[in-house]
Amino acid sequence: MSDAQSGLGQILATTPVIPVIVLDDADLALPLAHALLRGGLRVLEVTLRTPAALAALRTMRQLADAIVGAGTVLNPEQYDEAVGAGAQFVVAPGLTGALAAAAARSRVPLLPGTATASEVMRARDAGFHVMKLFPAEAVGGVATLKAFASVFADVRFCPTGGITAETAPDYLALRNVACVGGSWMTPADAVTARDWNRIEQLAARACALRR
Ligand code: 3PG
Repeated sequence: MSDAQSGLGQILATTPVIPVIVLDDADLALPLAHALLRGGLRVLEVTLRTPAALAALRTMRQLADAIVGAGTVLNPEQYDEAVGAGAQFVVAPGLTGALAAAAARSRVPLLPGTATASEVMRARDAGFHVMKLFPAEAVGGVATLKAFASVFADVRFCPTGGITAETAPDYLALRNVACVGGSWMTPADAVTARDWNRIEQLAARACALRR
């Protein structure tokens, strides 16, 4: 495992939950990140799904307390853009050969997405031992992770997709789960309304979901 990849395990070990952030307005990046930090969540994932994403990522990187990654990275070009904007880790919904090669030559680690045993095997062969399970609920969630635990003893997961404050504890109780990801701490209506208190409270509840 590369130094960059082992650094990823350390990042994920610092938090029970990674908020998955979709932002249309980069001007909201700073107050949103502040609210999440006040709630106790330090590891943040900004998805590259909107034109504002790279600017939002760059802005959040000004906060010394935050560890900011880029999500929804689909190809090496986006990997490079994310690193250029200051991403400290990169998250992909799956894994391609091109992305694995980009990760191998980067100092910034990749959290690749997997959904099946064969995908876990391919990611493992490519040197990854920490993976996202995506979309977690749709591919069997807790039951799938329990089955993977007995066959992939050296792999840990960050399940993401369809997880809620109510279901997160079931995931966090599994020994092969490093942390979970989700968007429930940053509901679109709260972001639009600039309801930072609500987001801080949701973050604090998520932060209290200790392993
Ligand atoms: C995503 O890709 O948006 C993440 O998996 C978050 O999923 P969620 O909105 O179901 O939490």
